[in-house]
Amino acid sequence: MKFGWLEITLFSIVLTVVISAILVRGKNWLEPGFWGVFAIVGSLVMFSVLWLLTFDTLKKISFGSNRVPSPTVINHKIGYEYDPDKKRYIPTIGEEEPFFGKQWSEKEATSLLTKGKLVIQSRNCMDCHTLLGNGAYFAPDLTKSWLDPKWETMIQPMTGMKTKEEAMAKWLQNPEYYGTWQRRMPNLKLTEAEAKAIVGYLKFMSAIDTNGFPDHFGRAPSVF
Ligand code: HEC
Repeated sequence: MKFGWLEITLFSIVLTVVISAILVRGKNWLEPGFWGVFAIVGSLVMFSVLWLLTFDTLKKISFGSNRVPSPTVINHKIGYEYDPDKKRYIPTIGEEEPFFGKQWSEKEATSLLTKGKLVIQSRNCMDCHTLLGNGAYFAPDLTKSWLDPKWETMIQPMTGMKTKEEAMAKWLQNPEYYGTWQRRMPNLKLTEAEAKAIVGYLKFMSAIDTNGFPDHFGRAPSVF
């Protein structure tokens, strides 16, 4: 059985009432201590539930969970398909494809993604972009940016690069030169290694099942 927020809330309330009712047996309900017991038991139950939910969330957001793939997903083709049962788009992990011309071992892929994340934090990309729901909307949402068809249709021809990942890395190092939008991204002086790590991170991120977020990705005209 799957527990949703409703089941957990009802369970917490019922548990609080049952435990408190046992503890206050024989007490008059007009005594302040009567309600004090409810308050203390309620707080303890909620604290335990939050504690369990924290661990549950940590498990769900770790590499290799149902929604978050392992770092080696960068060795695969990533798609995005509508699932009629779930009524939303879900990322699909397809056949193997070289990434920057090679297969990445788990250790190599993990260190690439870690570097990508650190570079993104060091330049505060979230000042302008949104990643996984955090950040700003001055510039396009980056959560599914790897799947943006523009890399193949526009940036690859513009930069003259053979693969999508090389085109993205080149673009990231010279965004002011290859502008595609009414606003230009400033040059953040990324080195080639930093740009590659970001591309790895963006590819990995596009394979995370984000419940269909950002909505209408790739289907509606951009709101910007
Ligand atoms: C000052 C605001 C700003 C910052 C900071 C910024 N960007 Fe951008 N970014 C933009 C704008 C504006 C665009 C659209 C430019 C264009 O298409 O020519 C853009 C476009 C992009 C795109 C293309 C998205 C798509 O799918 O069209 C990527 C990828 C990207 N930025 C990555 C980054 C990364 C990674 C960082 C941090 C290292 C970063 N940006 C920091 C403003 C910013």
